[in-house]
Amino acid sequence: MVHHADASNFEDGVTKEEAYEQVLLQAEGLFDGQRNWVCNLANTASLLWHALNSLPAPSNEVNWSGFYMADRKEGLILGPFHGKVACQTIALGRGVCGTAAASKKTVRVEDVNQFPGHIACDSASRSEIVVPIVTDEGKLVAIIDIDCAVVNGFDEVDQKYLEQLAALVAKSCDWP
Ligand code: SME
Repeated sequence: MVHHADASNFEDGVTKEEAYEQVLLQAEGLFDGQRNWVCNLANTASLLWHALNSLPAPSNEVNWSGFYMADRKEGLILGPFHGKVACQTIALGRGVCGTAAASKKTVRVEDVNQFPGHIACDSASRSEIVVPIVTDEGKLVAIIDIDCAVVNGFDEVDQKYLEQLAALVAKSCDWP
């Protein structure tokens, strides 16, 4: 890598699988020697944004990629992200994020208007995927949240790679 920003460049015509493979590789490289969660999650949010936005539709309709952190007081509190200003806190069990956090299971929502309790931080968002980040000890530390401006923005390929990314992130950071 010549410049750090080069990690955000994805070649024209890459498949979704290739883009996610690059995200995983770049993340691993960036986390090498760096365990600060703010630093690592900030760069990961950027990697996800640029990877997905370099793909054909529907992935290039992604309008928010980031993290909510587990918080004793709030349930979830906004972490590093790429996109527009978002809801600051989410109670466990509320919305797509709180549902995934409470169950520690990925939640993929084809159409957010059909998800009871969906929290609309941005009315432009139409589909969403939330992947919990859980340590080896089984502790929820954060969630990955990605929104898309069209319905059905995410499939099993997104889920598979985001779950791999969540596992990598979980073991690569010191959590608050
Ligand atoms: N839609 C989410 C809230 C977070 S924003 O999408 C960034 C939810 O229902 O939990």
